[in-house]
Amino acid sequence: MTLKLNDTYVKSFIKDGELEAISAEVKAAHKCLLSGNGEGNDFLGWVDLPFNYDKEEYARIKAAAAKIQKKCDVFVVIGIGGSYLGARAVIEYVKSPLYNNLKHEGTPDIYFSGCNISAQSLNELLAICEGKDICINVISKSGTTTEPAVAFRVFRELLEKKYGKAEAKERIFVTTDKARGTLKKFSDEAGYETFVVPDNVGGRFSVLTAVGLLPIAVSGTDIDALMKGAADAATEFKASDDINTNPCMKYVAIRNIMYRNGKGTEILVNYEPYAAMLNEWWKQLYGESEGKDKKGIFPASVIFSTDLHSLGQFIQDGSRNIFETVVSVNETNEKKPVPFDEANVDGLNFLAGVDLNEVNKMAMKGTILAHVDGGTPNILIEIADKSEYSLGYLLYFFEFACGVSGYVLGVNPFNQPGVEAYKKNMFALLGKPGYESEKAALEARLK
Ligand code: PA5
Repeated sequence: MTLKLNDTYVKSFIKDGELEAISAEVKAAHKCLLSGNGEGNDFLGWVDLPFNYDKEEYARIKAAAAKIQKKCDVFVVIGIGGSYLGARAVIEYVKSPLYNNLKHEGTPDIYFSGCNISAQSLNELLAICEGKDICINVISKSGTTTEPAVAFRVFRELLEKKYGKAEAKERIFVTTDKARGTLKKFSDEAGYETFVVPDNVGGRFSVLTAVGLLPIAVSGTDIDALMKGAADAATEFKASDDINTNPCMKYVAIRNIMYRNGKGTEILVNYEPYAAMLNEWWKQLYGESEGKDKKGIFPASVIFSTDLHSLGQFIQDGSRNIFETVVSVNETNEKKPVPFDEANVDGLNFLAGVDLNEVNKMAMKGTILAHVDGGTPNILIEIADKSEYSLGYLLYFFEFACGVSGYVLGVNPFNQPGVEAYKKNMFALLGKPGYESEKAALEARLK
């Protein structure tokens, strides 16, 4: 078993007949996704991606990763949204959020840039890069997104000043649209090695393309195992539309029942800090896919036990419009026993010698029961271990569930029209040519 969906702690919140009633809708949505007859069907490339990918490019990703590992101390990954969250989530999950601070022979430090508009964060990263050998990977499907485009200008200038144009081009790797788009043309002219964001894969579903795989491979993570896990998940989840045998379809059914019963917020719960960016990846996947047409479950996330000391109060006892989806990893690699202390001033000697994983598991079990008692349903997703294989399986579980769930909800899960509104206003306020009339109207509102 790689993944098990445990519905014990949500059952009491599901009324008789509700699962049976939604089952037909889940089947129809499963069919709609696989037949390619639904809305957004030109963005279904991710469904078969774990088997159906460009093998030549995959080999080039590994070769480029090896080259980057040799060439630099610092590898800067430039991208935003779907063009960075997957890579960062996997690297932090498999390696560590403290990867750069820990010993990692043979792989460079990895930093992410172009995912905000912060002068401070860009300047800090430039300071970190001083005196170091640098490579960069700019990732942008459109090639025109403001945040990564600004960071790319800054780092391109730095590399060209530091190494000269000829060497800089050996250190710049670009992941973008195959043929259209300004970044591809610019990169070909400049002589940068390029990788493809497939036309039919949207940013938030792109972690298993070059978008995610190149930075992930640079970190020394086993991308073969990641892909194998995703491929096995795809085989299983595509084969059955039955909510009783397919855990992915059961997740779709239960979360939609929760939504219809007034639970409009889903909180993804992890008990390990290494999963904080996985939470962020999941929030983008579900937020951009489902939040439209005035519908959708609001995706939130927590890391417990940290957030039990902050949001825990609300989840236990606040507005009852939430449910939790808890991810639990059964086998962990790290062990750490609680030390014995002669004085026992904190009264913790009853735990002396007990592994912290055991303490964490009991925190999880106790919390689930407390939250259920408080009126917050809990869906429990159990993962066999913390391997790349299991993570690939989990990533695909959430992607496939997201696609089917969007269709159950009655939205197009593969577009993101709402993302444009802020950009339009920002460009107008910054005086971009062509936005003159909007600028005046917005400025009048801001007076
Ligand atoms: O999921 C998405 O489509 C978005 O989050 C995009 O990935 C994000 O806006 C970045 O776009 P681009 O890769 O075109 O720079």
